[in-house]
Amino acid sequence: MNAKIELPFETLSWIGNLDGHVQMLEQTRLPLEEVQLEVRTVSEMVDAIYRLAVRGAPAIGVAAGYGMVLGIRSAGPGEVLEVARATKSTLDASRPTAVNLSWATARILRHLEGLEGADDAALKQATLDEARAIQEGDEDTCRRMGEHGATLIQDGWTLLTHCNAGALATAGMGTALAPIYTAHAQGKRVAVFADETRPLLQGARITSWELMKAGVEVRLITDGMAARVMGEGKIDAVFVGSDRIARNGDVCNKIGTYGVAISAHHHNVPFHVVAPLSTVDPSLASGDLIPIEERPAEEITEGFGNRTAPRDVQVYAPAFDVTPAALVTSIITEVGIVEAPDTAKMERALREGGVSF
Ligand code: MRU
Repeated sequence: MNAKIELPFETLSWIGNLDGHVQMLEQTRLPLEEVQLEVRTVSEMVDAIYRLAVRGAPAIGVAAGYGMVLGIRSAGPGEVLEVARATKSTLDASRPTAVNLSWATARILRHLEGLEGADDAALKQATLDEARAIQEGDEDTCRRMGEHGATLIQDGWTLLTHCNAGALATAGMGTALAPIYTAHAQGKRVAVFADETRPLLQGARITSWELMKAGVEVRLITDGMAARVMGEGKIDAVFVGSDRIARNGDVCNKIGTYGVAISAHHHNVPFHVVAPLSTVDPSLASGDLIPIEERPAEEITEGFGNRTAPRDVQVYAPAFDVTPAALVTSIITEVGIVEAPDTAKMERALREGGVSF
């Protein structure tokens, strides 16, 4: 039994026709204000992605798809493909770790390159249609991941999640939160501990906000409390998302995830990763090849305008870490559940999803 799950907000959408714009919930203002941001140019889109106004791997893929439309719509006669390639490079550079971003821009470019003989107007319309198809595909993918993942959740369970891998990180109901929303809609009693997620507090600001809106019981903890809470026996399973998964099943996600995985392993708590196949990067044999974004020191020393460290202190600020496949109980994709992931199993899932590699 799978009830339809409606969440009372929209992460982002394209408004109008080719001359339209992107409207997105400005996530840097959450949870205090629900403000819509209108994005009309490629540089505004790059800025929105870099500032995390839109964030989460699948959502920035959808945003980048619409960014391609913003780029090509003013291309001169015969220049659509050339402008599309340049726009792709600009968008891909906005954030380096989540592979969904370059996956989306590559998908659009490949689609345009395949439309031999199409005139400029047809190419421009095809860009918008393909960007919309990416958004619709993501909604459906989230639903399928939710259905697979919910089979791993029992009535009465308490789950732990890190960062935000919910509806606000996708165009649908989320990755890691999709099985939780699905289990909740199926009538299972579920509760969530949300790690606050230093330094940008996606867990505190966004995950707890959206779970509360959806009526799912949520309790906020600081990142350092997760091991303690697992040691107290309060967690039945961990569900997290991912920004990039290497071919061998190593999982890159928000900084702090690796520590959660080590702790889960120590306490015999299942550690599940929920991610679409667009997050799997078959070109990388293992997780040590994944580019890790470093963010400005100020996000740690004076996050949200409040100075909390000495002036001129040296800072190291990687935004993501990599959890080795050996610590991952399962990777849940739209085509099913890969238990104890390794290269052969990931390749099988990619083939099942029709991904060529
Ligand atoms: O820096 P962010 O907020 O974009 O990081 C997001 C995450 O790490 C998510 O867990 C990941 O993108 C999975 S989203 C469905």
